[in-house]
Amino acid sequence: MRFLRDKVALITGASSGIGRATALALAREGMHLALAARRAAPLEAVAAEVQRLGVRAVALPADVSQRDQAEGLVQATLVQLGQLDVLVASAGIYVRGPIATLTADDFERCMAVNYFGTVYPVLAALPGLCAQGSGHIVLLSSVDGKKAIRTDAPYAASKFAVAGFGESLRQDLAGTGVDVSLIFPGRVATPLIAGMKIPAISRPIPAERVAQAIVRAIRRRQAEVILPVTAYALLFLDWLSPRLGDWAVSAFHLHGLEESER
Ligand SMILES: NC(=O)c1ccc[n+]([C@@H]2O[C@H](COP(=O)([O-])OP(=O)(O)OC[C@H]3O[C@@H](n4cnc5c(N)ncnc54)[C@H](OP(=O)(O)O)[C@@H]3O)[C@@H](O)[C@H]2O)c1
Repeated sequence: MRFLRDKVALITGASSGIGRATALALAREGMHLALAARRAAPLEAVAAEVQRLGVRAVALPADVSQRDQAEGLVQATLVQLGQLDVLVASAGIYVRGPIATLTADDFERCMAVNYFGTVYPVLAALPGLCAQGSGHIVLLSSVDGKKAIRTDAPYAASKFAVAGFGESLRQDLAGTGVDVSLIFPGRVATPLIAGMKIPAISRPIPAERVAQAIVRAIRRRQAEVILPVTAYALLFLDWLSPRLGDWAVSAFHLHGLEESER
């Protein structure tokens, strides 16, 4: 989709981090925006920020892990902004910990938001996008959705699920005019990882860099984006041998440093 001006995007997770930065980046391209997240106040603040850039924006408070609320976002976008061209599924939570401390609830909660909270709005948007014969779906996975790192089991599993969904979706939609981009960021400086001690080798990148990558992915119809480029080193080692990948995670403390290691 080369021309974004006056098109409409629905962004989940728009109140913070990558979703917020993407809202601002797409607004600068002239897109009108439907912004979704659970908390109304920060969402309204982003909507006001976006409106100051001269585009229309509506705040749609919703919990994407609730199927009716997630599906309702698509309908609300069509009613309030008249069309839907781009869906960015950025809502997510980071559930992690040493495996012995995790419960089945932790895994269910993470899948409910990160995986089903992605699938529900996509399925609701598909009939309209396919009927109009154009559109773009952007799904946020993670480098953790290509190489799972230790202590991240619930999160990594949900991000592998998003990647599998997106890869299949992209092939299913070939020839329909609807494109799919999967985004695989490494560490990004957002509230999601606040308080974590991250080693210099995987220093968090700004959310704005991911947002720019998303805009480029939409314009260039990129199937996948992995960033930053240093993430390829881990994926290459893992491709050579999963145990080499595991070694790199441990040796460089890619899972984050514990209190005792700082
Ligand atoms: N930060 C990183 O290092 C990193 C790396 C790779 C991938 N990612 C992925 O990028 C995406 C955005 O993450 P971020 O770093 O921008 O995190 P963030 O700053 O914490 O933002 C997460 C957003 O998701 C929303 N959200 C959470 N649960 C929700 C729910 N049940 N329903 C609706 N909205 C919900 C939050 O708003 P409310 O709390 O108001 O609902 C917030 O707007 C996530 O999918 C994340 O997994 C992040």
